[in-house]
Amino acid sequence: MLKKKIEKMLVDQVNFEIYSAYIYLGMAAYCDDKDYPGFANWLKIQWEEEIFHAMKMYNYIIERGGAIVLNPIAAPPKTWKSLVAVFEHALEHEQIVTGRINKMMTTAIKEDDHATRSFLNWFVDEQVEEEANVDGIIKRLKMVKDSGHGLFMFDKELAARTFVPPVGA
Ligand code: FEO
Repeated sequence: MLKKKIEKMLVDQVNFEIYSAYIYLGMAAYCDDKDYPGFANWLKIQWEEEIFHAMKMYNYIIERGGAIVLNPIAAPPKTWKSLVAVFEHALEHEQIVTGRINKMMTTAIKEDDHATRSFLNWFVDEQVEEEANVDGIIKRLKMVKDSGHGLFMFDKELAARTFVPPVGA
């Protein structure tokens, strides 16, 4: 059985991962609207990744005898200043997620819940990749700047992204 404190922390994170998915879907809609189908595709795959994170945590809670409580999801922004602004927001959001996961890990250690600590290790590693992926896109976007050809090629490249369940899932 999960301690109540641990159960609440995990359930809150399920809700936050779903909120993360919603933000990425909002970003995808913005990119579709601006005619960047490749960037939109990348963000839709990210939406799937976030749902995957939520469900991984959901399944763990159930396995440990906990209960899921779903809350209303806040609406994401409707627009951004630019493509760079979209991905800067994504990076900022991923840094918030990383902070939350680290705090959860600290709580699991304090509460002597070794199973949850071990479970959260996967998320600690996943966040390194999540931040690096978004940071890489920001760097490339800044390199390309306003080059129409560069943006077209980058968009085409991101159109090829497909959902692959993360390693160790
Ligand atoms: Fe679920 Fe992008 O962190």
